Amino acid sequence: MANKIITLDEFIIKRQNDFSYATGELTALLRDIGVAAKIVNREVNRAGLVNILGIHGSENASGEDVQKLDMYANDKLIECLSNSGECCGVASEENEDYVEIPPIASENGKYVVLFDPLDGSSNIDVNVSVGTIFSIYRRVSDESGPCELEDFLQKGVEQVAAGYVIYGTSTILVYTTGNGVNGFTLDPSIGEFCLSHRNIQIPKTGQYYSINQGYYSKFDLEMRRYVDNCSDMNLRLRYIGTMVADIHRILFQGGIFLYPSTRKYPDGKLRLLYECNPMSFIMEQAGGKSIDTQLQRIMEIKPTELHQRASIVIGSPQMVDEMKAFVQKYSASNVLG
Ligand code: AHG
Ligand code: MN
Ligand code: MN
Repeated sequence: MANKIITLDEFIIKRQNDFSYATGELTALLRDIGVAAKIVNREVNRAGLVNILGIHGSENASGEDVQKLDMYANDKLIECLSNSGECCGVASEENEDYVEIPPIASENGKYVVLFDPLDGSSNIDVNVSVGTIFSIYRRVSDESGPCELEDFLQKGVEQVAAGYVIYGTSTILVYTTGNGVNGFTLDPSIGEFCLSHRNIQIPKTGQYYSINQGYYSKFDLEMRRYVDNCSDMNLRLRYIGTMVADIHRILFQGGIFLYPSTRKYPDGKLRLLYECNPMSFIMEQAGGKSIDTQLQRIMEIKPTELHQRASIVIGSPQMVDEMKAFVQKYSASNVLG
């Protein structure tokens, strides 16, 4: 007999008891995100057909070019998250400040959602995988009023759920609520995400390293030595330039992804709240590790601003430990001369 198909909505409802707060709250939020993902997926698929490509004419909060699809995905996520009444505010890579979501039936939502609506946007025009990343926290401010900045500036360890969608050869949504990681593949014929990857576990070690080696000369000395070591060990270099896609490969096949500090981005390029924390929560839940190049656990960094950047080293536990030991050893031998 064929295996029974389990849709994302069915799975979320089945697993809602795993969640320590009131039944149904997170369920509604995850479903809102699932709906937004389907809408964005449709637009990503049609991107070559409709006149939606190209620069949108504004810059995002971090000063980079914004493409039309980034704004489309941003708007759809905000729209969908306003549906269930569980979300009182969102913060996005594409908005300078956080956005309050008005209460439904004068009840304020208890959660805030942070996201990178479209990750890897430079790859849209050339038909290469892009993604969406999201991170959910329970608000810490008084529930009788609107959300506040402190609700968004929580450490990654406080996340109640996180996930990503990869719009690749197929569209897959991967998420965690702190009880393991599961993946769902979108079946376009029925328009549903179906459970396809149950309890994802990253291999303890792997053959791949993923870093923009074009910046080699702009890395710190120990990072250059580490990259030399990867090459000496005959590891295979893969770099798509979409964080979601590069980490997705590593999650399934094992390996290490690094975005260290460079001369242009002394604190790293990737954003702590929209990219590093959610991907770290998923990675740790799948048995992996995630630290910055100061060797601090990413999810323990206390954020001070919404668009804060962080360096990141994430992937198979053994490989992250080896990178850490390598840097410690190399820095110590430098001190000793
Ligand atoms: P975004 O499209 O959301 O701005 O993110 C792009 C990020 C990330 O996905 C990727 O890992 C990185 O930028 C690539 O940067 P480089 O081109 O500097 O390697
Ligand atoms: Mn991104
Ligand atoms: Mn983006």
